[in-house]
Amino acid sequence: MISKTVPFLDVHATYDSLRDEITKKVAAVLESGHYILGPECQAFEREFANFTGAEHCIGVANGLDAITLMLQAHNIGPGDEVIVPSNTFIATWLAVSMCGATPVPCEPKIGTNNIDADKIASLISPKTRAVIAVHLYGQPADIDSIKLSIGDKKILLFEDAAQAHGAKYKTKNVGSLADGAAFSFYPGKNLGAFGDGGCVTVNDVDVAKRIRSLRNYGSEKKYYHDVLGSNSRLDEIQAAVLRLKLKTLPPWNARRQQLAAIYQTKLRNIGDLCLPETPVWADPVWHLYVVRTAQRDKMLDYLKDQGIQCLVHYPVAPHRSGAYSGLYKNISLPIADTLSSQVLSLPIGPHLSTEQVDYVCDRISAFFR
Ligand SMILES: Cc1ncc(COP(=O)(O)O)c(C=O)c1O
Repeated sequence: MISKTVPFLDVHATYDSLRDEITKKVAAVLESGHYILGPECQAFEREFANFTGAEHCIGVANGLDAITLMLQAHNIGPGDEVIVPSNTFIATWLAVSMCGATPVPCEPKIGTNNIDADKIASLISPKTRAVIAVHLYGQPADIDSIKLSIGDKKILLFEDAAQAHGAKYKTKNVGSLADGAAFSFYPGKNLGAFGDGGCVTVNDVDVAKRIRSLRNYGSEKKYYHDVLGSNSRLDEIQAAVLRLKLKTLPPWNARRQQLAAIYQTKLRNIGDLCLPETPVWADPVWHLYVVRTAQRDKMLDYLKDQGIQCLVHYPVAPHRSGAYSGLYKNISLPIADTLSSQVLSLPIGPHLSTEQVDYVCDRISAFFR
């Protein structure tokens, strides 16, 4: 087979395929003279709420702020504990820390990589205010089992859906499954802006009102500030781009699903390679296609030599990162540690060709031969 180049994700291709529409739309926003909290943001909020099935959507500046504001809207702060997955992007933990609360790590299930609902009950203390379930790599977490573990305790359940726009849990879209959900529109996400962006989706009208105020200097009426807020708004240009790209999200997610199916078939039973496990109730959108092998670093280098760009999500678990240095030294999180040394994300994205994915499979088979 001739050697090729396979990028991890071709974000420029997403622009190329919508170039004319995007150019027109951005020009129209610039001409309008309305750049912050205008009609594009309002329309996107309505359309994205509709897409997720939630009652309300509040556009914010990025995914980290989305989680932070969601927690702040419930007055989660110093002295409170929030249960988070031990295996996630550090933003999930940082949002809790930004509020002054303490992240309490819960190990994932090794096949699905998502939080293990059976391990939550033993982590609940009188200080526990919330659990954040991350739909990691685009695969929905087991929300019903998490709700069962929480039982009738007064503990909130939030979704970190930053990697899972359009994923379904038992026929319902993520973003409407619990007490609130946070999304990121970072450019590489399944629904990505051309800059930073994020949003919170919620069903409760009062919580939505609080988040609207918190994202805009704690203000509902210009220059009247009722609470300590921040500046975290989704600007009109990003909102306009997101409205266009929301229309392409279903076919682009479907393409990711086709490519993941090729990996699932062609990479079965090869060496010690472990493929992602998908429960029957899960309809993932494959933000990342993450395999596991004890030979991760060797395989990464080998694939690089073959022109194939892979990444590691994530090489350092949050409890091992400098940001939390020392704080979790007495806590054992063997699954998070194993994952950080073994996971490898293969190229995936709506603009990769079948031929490129076949080439990746071929080279991986050659590596294990
Ligand atoms: C699981 C998860 N949560 C939160 C975030 C934070 O999003 P942002 O980068 O938009 O702040 C990310 C971004 O990569 C993420 O992957």
